[in-house]
Amino acid sequence: MKKKILFVASEAVPFASSGGLGDVIGSLPSALQSASGDYDVRVILPLYGTMEPEWRSKLIKVAETVITLSWRRQYLGIFKIVKDGVTYYFLDNEYYFKRPSLYGSYDDGERYAFFCKAVMDALPIIEFFPDVLHAHDWQSALTVIYLKRLYGLLDKYRDIKSVFTIHNISYQGIFSHDILGDVFNLTPGDREIVDYGGSINLMKGAIVCADRVTTVSPTYAKEILSPTYSCGLHYVLEQNKGKLYGILNGIDTVNYNPSNDPELFVHFDSESSWKKTENKLKLQKMLGLPQSENTPLIAVISRLTSHKGIDLITLAADDILQDDVQLVVLGKGDYLYEDNLYHIAERYSDKACTLLMYNRDMSKKIYAGADIFVMPSKSEPCGLAQMIASRYGTVPVVRETGGLYDSIKDVGCEGGGNGFTFAPYSAWELLNAVKRAVGAYRDRDGWNALVKKVMEVDFSWDKSAKDYISLYDEFFLR
Ligand code: GLC
Repeated sequence: MKKKILFVASEAVPFASSGGLGDVIGSLPSALQSASGDYDVRVILPLYGTMEPEWRSKLIKVAETVITLSWRRQYLGIFKIVKDGVTYYFLDNEYYFKRPSLYGSYDDGERYAFFCKAVMDALPIIEFFPDVLHAHDWQSALTVIYLKRLYGLLDKYRDIKSVFTIHNISYQGIFSHDILGDVFNLTPGDREIVDYGGSINLMKGAIVCADRVTTVSPTYAKEILSPTYSCGLHYVLEQNKGKLYGILNGIDTVNYNPSNDPELFVHFDSESSWKKTENKLKLQKMLGLPQSENTPLIAVISRLTSHKGIDLITLAADDILQDDVQLVVLGKGDYLYEDNLYHIAERYSDKACTLLMYNRDMSKKIYAGADIFVMPSKSEPCGLAQMIASRYGTVPVVRETGGLYDSIKDVGCEGGGNGFTFAPYSAWELLNAVKRAVGAYRDRDGWNALVKKVMEVDFSWDKSAKDYISLYDEFFLR
């Protein structure tokens, strides 16, 4: 009999996604199944109103019922889609999930409490009682808490083990204790489990209740034990560090593949990376920048928030742009940074371009056409953009933190690295690293060799999928 894993998450590519979590949930399950024929990995998600018609038309109805959440009685529809050999279940309730965006509603706590309660109630209906329930981020945290405090008392749920993965500790799911019973369907006896600093903290509750806690890089697993990175959770992580693991994410190297990506102007691989130039010239034209083969094009693709180090970019931009370089920024975020970057592009209209949007197609064109990719995050649990940039032959400049540290080593290190890195969080250090990259770019042979090397680093899921399997396999020893 296969070992059964159920991923619980609030997003997955291509059904619904707002960031890196969606990428991981959309690619790790099939990687796990490919890594070991012994595993049946399924995924359970909310059915959002934003799902593309292409996928909506593929939904197969499994069941409909009514469930309770505290005093509420709510409709629950269950649908499924099988994709790449993985079964994805979708939990439907239009009152909660037919909204224009995934997150940011006033009642997100209630929406995801409903989702988690529905996941637990759906198991007998889908006839899939997993050996391991693997929940991701605060939106799914209540499943781990319900398992320990409520459902674990029932026969079929008793032996289910739980893993909770932290993709980003800055979003913890914090609410007032007033809604402990009314919204979260918990009892006064559960108060201590979820309490942190006088509020309900769902991530804290899941850390306490889970059999294993993981995060998305080994370095971040260490960093979040310290107050600088823990967003307040270091005490509880310290108490639970015996069950804390860091496993670096991979990327979907089939979807992110410059040799057949339909969004690119010209396809290329590590043996034909000179074809990047063609992509660059077409990209420059598209962005309204002068077409210039030998001017290094520096790219930033990011949420525009301080957590991503965008403040350093705005501080260093004037100095960076004194050189013969071009800069393109793609992303949305805090008004302050959007405004700042917009004005930089205005001041240097012949060198810089700011696109205040998320656009997957455009991001692929930039990954392929740029030369240098800048990611100076203040903290970075894993980060996928530096891996995608590498795969498309764009050399990363990163700050040494979390997954950036685990995936990118400086060219100056022993054995040579695959990018340019700096440690102190300062605009000066960023400027220095960018200048080193621009300097290296001027030596064309050396640069071409570096691009080839960067493209050939293996960022696929192969290794990490094996690490997750070893982690799950510990539950099956006995
Ligand atoms: C979050 C983190 C990012 C990570 C992603 C997937 O978005 O901020 O660093 O790569 O989750 O785990």
